[in-house]
Amino acid sequence: MSLNPKLKDWKSKRIWIVGASSGIGEALARQFDALGAHCMLSARSKDKLHTLCAELTHAHALPLDVTDEQAVKGAFRNLLEQCGGIDLIVLLAGTYSEMSVKSFNLAAVKKQIDVNLNGTMHVLDAVLPTLIQQHYGHVSLVSSVAGYRGLPNSLAYGPSKAALINLAEALHLEMKRMNVGVSVVNPGFVDTPLTRTNTFPMPFLMTAGKAAQDMIKGYEKGQFELHFPKKFTCGLRLLRLLPYCLYFRLVKKITQSSTEHAQ
Ligand SMILES: NC(=O)c1ccc[n+]([C@@H]2O[C@H](COP(=O)([O-])OP(=O)(O)OC[C@H]3O[C@@H](n4cnc5c(N)ncnc54)[C@H](OP(=O)(O)O)[C@@H]3O)[C@@H](O)[C@H]2O)c1
Repeated sequence: MSLNPKLKDWKSKRIWIVGASSGIGEALARQFDALGAHCMLSARSKDKLHTLCAELTHAHALPLDVTDEQAVKGAFRNLLEQCGGIDLIVLLAGTYSEMSVKSFNLAAVKKQIDVNLNGTMHVLDAVLPTLIQQHYGHVSLVSSVAGYRGLPNSLAYGPSKAALINLAEALHLEMKRMNVGVSVVNPGFVDTPLTRTNTFPMPFLMTAGKAAQDMIKGYEKGQFELHFPKKFTCGLRLLRLLPYCLYFRLVKKITQSSTEHAQ
């Protein structure tokens, strides 16, 4: 069942990708461009964005830092002047560092909340009035399976991503009647600069290109939750349903055995 208006016929669709300078965002920009969409690409790395835009046919760079509320508003004003409206906003800007109880670091916690959650709020603050007025469009928040339930060594990233899942649900409930689509993307492990520092084994690791492909398919089907790779995420979605006594026991067992394999 499609919970959102289906996004099809990408030709000339106006798409804002926030977090487009590398990884999944970059792959998405390349694929949308090949489908004829007009992509506006944001991230902090100006040079990377300009290099990417030079390789694409219909892309423009809008460099920004999502933690800077005014910069986000300015970039969206600029986008509206150039495009006159917006069809899809994909919010991928994110940062990750592993954090355990013993390595708890408040500055790193604040940084992850600031980029992953507050950065998303800054973008919403800029785009919501336009989406409400347009009565069309789609906003897609990129969360993670790490946001499903509490996991070890994820004291900052997990909570920031759990908040995004809750936020997407809340947005969807209100925006459906405005004909505005809302989705949440929960990837498993994707090979990008974000995960390359991980020292533990990453099951079902997929390429950024495949992740982007799965996202586009999800938008075309009008899905609310886009999750991949299914072999990994379906199991985790089941874990989400377990009562605490079983969940804690199982996660302990799984994470212990994967740590032993890594050693
Ligand atoms: N890779 C995975 O396995 C995985 C799994 C689940 C969820 N995710 C999520 O997917 C999203 C994309 O991650 P990725 O794996 O593609 O990693 P990535 O290659 O590191 O991409 C992160 C993007 O966010 C941008 N960014 C970071 N901080 C920013 C800021 N303050 N302002 C604006 N842009 C900022 C980065 O560009 P600049 O550095 O140029 O600013 C980059 O374009 C993230 O939200 C991540 O949490 C990834």
